[in-house]
Amino acid sequence: MQAADNPPPGSAPRSGDAAAEPAATPTHDAAPGAAARPAGLAALARGRLLQRLRGQADTAGPAARLHAAQDPHPQVPAAWCRFESHPAYERLLVSQAAARRMDVDNPFFRVHEGAAGATTRIDGREFVNFSSYDYLGLNGHPRIEQAVLQAVRRYGTSASASRLVAGERPVQRELERELADCYGAEECVAFVSGHATNVSTIGCLLGPKDLVLHDALVHNSVLEGIKLSGAHRRGFAHNDWRQLDALLHELRGNFERVLIVIEGLYSMDGDTPELQRFVEIKQRHKAWLMVDEAHSLGVLGSTGRGLAEHCGMPPGCVDIWMGTLSKSLAGCGGFIAGSRALVELLKYTAPGFVYSVGLSPALAAASLEALRMLREQPERVQALRDNGAFLCGYAKSRGIDTGRSLGFAVTPAITGSSLKAVQASNALLEQGFNVQPIVHPAVEERAARLRFFVCASHTREQIASAVDALARVS
Ligand SMILES: Cc1ncc(COP(=O)(O)O)c(C=O)c1O
Repeated sequence: MQAADNPPPGSAPRSGDAAAEPAATPTHDAAPGAAARPAGLAALARGRLLQRLRGQADTAGPAARLHAAQDPHPQVPAAWCRFESHPAYERLLVSQAAARRMDVDNPFFRVHEGAAGATTRIDGREFVNFSSYDYLGLNGHPRIEQAVLQAVRRYGTSASASRLVAGERPVQRELERELADCYGAEECVAFVSGHATNVSTIGCLLGPKDLVLHDALVHNSVLEGIKLSGAHRRGFAHNDWRQLDALLHELRGNFERVLIVIEGLYSMDGDTPELQRFVEIKQRHKAWLMVDEAHSLGVLGSTGRGLAEHCGMPPGCVDIWMGTLSKSLAGCGGFIAGSRALVELLKYTAPGFVYSVGLSPALAAASLEALRMLREQPERVQALRDNGAFLCGYAKSRGIDTGRSLGFAVTPAITGSSLKAVQASNALLEQGFNVQPIVHPAVEERAARLRFFVCASHTREQIASAVDALARVS
């Protein structure tokens, strides 16, 4: 029981614990510009910057303005009232200052001037784009635009309030019905954000007497949900079902509910779990299995139905199917598909559903149309799979380290340092390719990388020329 305790917030990662945050987990919390940071330079910049910040903190801010005699909390430093003195902000400023000194452009928050798919426009210039989730090439498709326009004309742009109290729109229900069918599930519920779907679902289903076991590379939203739930948590090494089995042998008896969380296609590495192993283990140890299909719906399986189809398993073998509307489904939001009881429980108690506005009808219409196109046009899935396999195979042949990628929609190019990842990304941009770097702390420093998202609509020539350009700059 002790070993399964959550570490207190802010505590150092425990060695030997695969779940230790943030190094072992792709938290997507990377600070923009946090890349270029040789120790000496960073320390120097940090020292000066913090000196400046602390100087300001003593003379400004609401608490500092209080006359000393009026201050009922003299022991509380004024810096605690200043966002500028927040330790996370200080770290961010230090990283950015170091990057500027090394003349490394900030690759984050670039402004795209149109729909970003296989190509995109930044600063008036056209780029071949590998930084979009638009796996099936549906963003901006005329059929989807038409569905959105009709929904907007009928319902406006907002669902106006929580669906629980203010009612539903038929398009939300149709989307949920068709997603449930896609996963062979009884019911489905859609949330306004994919991230919030994980946070709210895990936060609501589990409590302090429960345990969550998760893959070491699982998404940040899962970890945040576990924190919210107050459940105990343990990570197991990536895809290591044997370690999971051993943990369950050791710990299962100490808890009431146990949840195992894995992803269909891992968002940083582009590999998949052996679903049959996880299903067998969860059944034997009386646990729930949750699969995050953010990057696998529309990608895995010959018709894009995700991990179950990829592994030749019936979808009913998974208790909680989670997915996002923001990737293959050209929208924004998330969903949970599963049993009637699970979905009803979430609809009446998950805070991210009950206390949040309903999914915008326009976004529901976009994803509904995308789901129908996925069903009607499996050739899009095939094109994506062909492109993914080509990118991964060609990159390997050019000596690029693609890590564990199986060549589906996500392929990393491991650079081994955050600085190299940012430099490579900037060099590629100069040559007309937009590929985002993934830097520490989103991944371990030695696992820093560029990440390629492939689309069905990329041409072979676009892919080959991007890989050739990377081979030249790395
Ligand atoms: C595995 C995984 N789950 C959940 C999310 C959150 O989804 P969204 O970005 O749609 O909020 C992401 C985001 O990329 C993801 O990669």
